[in-house]
Amino acid sequence: MYKRSGIFLLLIGISIFFVPNVTASDNSCIDCHKTISPFIEIQKQFNQIRVEHLEKNVTCSLECHEDRVRQLATANYQQWSESVHALKGVTCENCHGGDPKIADKAGAHKEMTKRTDLESPVYYTNVPATCGKCHSKELQNFQGSKHYQKLEALKLAPTCTTCHAPHRFTLLDPEEFRNFCGNCHSVYKKVAPYDIPVKAEYLMGGVNKLKFNIDMVNNDIFLAKKNGTDVSQAQKHADNALGTLGNLAVLWHEFNLTHFETELDKGNAEIKRAQDIVKPVETSPIKTKAKDTPGFTGIIMLISMAAVLFLIRRNRD
Ligand code: HEC
Ligand code: HEC
Ligand code: HEC
Ligand code: HEC
Ligand code: HEC
Repeated sequence: MYKRSGIFLLLIGISIFFVPNVTASDNSCIDCHKTISPFIEIQKQFNQIRVEHLEKNVTCSLECHEDRVRQLATANYQQWSESVHALKGVTCENCHGGDPKIADKAGAHKEMTKRTDLESPVYYTNVPATCGKCHSKELQNFQGSKHYQKLEALKLAPTCTTCHAPHRFTLLDPEEFRNFCGNCHSVYKKVAPYDIPVKAEYLMGGVNKLKFNIDMVNNDIFLAKKNGTDVSQAQKHADNALGTLGNLAVLWHEFNLTHFETELDKGNAEIKRAQDIVKPVETSPIKTKAKDTPGFTGIIMLISMAAVLFLIRRNRD
């Protein structure tokens, strides 16, 4: 038994010694919330030892009892650490407040209000303003929406974090819209219009199609250019479509699906124009093979199609 607790203490020693080094940053929120995560390797070993202790009926240390309390804070860290925000250095205090220069908990949390406090920057109705500090265009569009009006007035309306779940802050896949928007827009929940979920899924599917077509046209343009064709006009149309695509995600937050569809159509029209100019000889990579064009072009097309598909899938994850 003494031997076991010896190992236990040794592990604590190792973790205290090593973990802060691994996380070396000058942000105390990150440093601390990372070390209290039960998910990192060293903590998994701890948990293993704890389980063994419990099995052998050895009294647990204080630490065990804090686990439940810490669970929330740690799970949030875990999710955040895998998010785009972590990648771009958007740390906890950007949304929660507090002082990331102070290393002890009480000090760091001192200026931080509880999430349930009406004044808290992460309180339901304050979330748009908090996110809007950085996502001002989304906020602007959102403020003009029915969702925002309802949010201000009553609770059954989505805020930013309803759709971009904390702390992963991911984007929704088109297939998710039916269920997701249907949480409110359904005959059962009585939030009209009821056709929103299907319409939203259709439109977002259209956005993905546009993305795909832009990549395909750029491919065709690349090939046509190699063959000495003047592609400047086609490139202009393709770039216009890309510009439209870039604005769609922001425009989405107006929650005006008619306006959204008009813009989407503009993008599609530009792509059509570009396509009409470059008119690729190869309409599909399989036909290319059968024709007199060298197989090399076909292979390149196949590879780039696979790459495009892969990118689309990754973006949706
Ligand atoms: C020295 C460790 C430590 C530091 C530094 C620290 N935290 Fe915490 N934090 C914790 C622990 C432990 C909890 C779990 C709940 C508790 O014990 O208060 C927690 C809880 C929280 C909560 C949940 C509180 C609630 O109301 O549910 C938030 C949000 C939070 N921390 C954000 C931050 C931010 C932002 C910073 C930096 C400004 C920070 N923390 C710095 C240890 C720390
Ligand atoms: C981009 C903004 C943002 C960032 C960055 C962020 N949070 Fe949060 N956090 C929120 C929001 C919004 C809520 C409220 C969620 C809700 O009400 O459901 C929240 C809630 C929490 C809670 C309360 C428990 C819960 O799940 O509701 C804890 C704990 C927490 N965050 C910890 C952290 C820690 C630790 C970090 C940094 C590693 C962090 N957050 C980074 C926005 C953020
Ligand atoms: C301190 C600035 C800051 C704050 C506050 C902030 N974000 Fe971000 N957010 C970023 C940056 C930077 C990116 C990376 C993409 C970019 O450069 O636009 C990003 C990306 C995102 C993305 C795209 C993720 C993806 O997979 O492409 C979403 C969704 C998002 N944020 C939602 C939110 C929400 C919701 C809030 C409020 C709870 C919030 N953000 C608060 C800076 C911030
Ligand atoms: C009702 C759901 C919903 C709400 C509410 C919502 N969003 Fe979004 N958001 C989306 C969808 C859908 C997309 C587009 C996803 C895609 O392109 O696949 C998106 C995209 C984004 C992006 C990525 C933009 C880009 O250029 O790629 C950011 C950032 C973002 N939202 C932030 C916010 C912020 C900030 C708020 C609150 C002010 C908010 N969202 C409210 C559904 C929502
Ligand atoms: C938490 C509940 C909730 C969720 C989730 C939700 N909505 Fe809404 N939505 C509302 C409410 C409430 C209204 C206002 C209805 C009214 O006018 O009475 C509304 C209105 C709208 C409108 C405006 C309709 C009009 O007549 O102008 C659109 C568009 C819309 N929602 C799209 C969406 C989409 C797309 C999603 C999924 C990404 C979604 N909503 C998810 C609650 C929700």
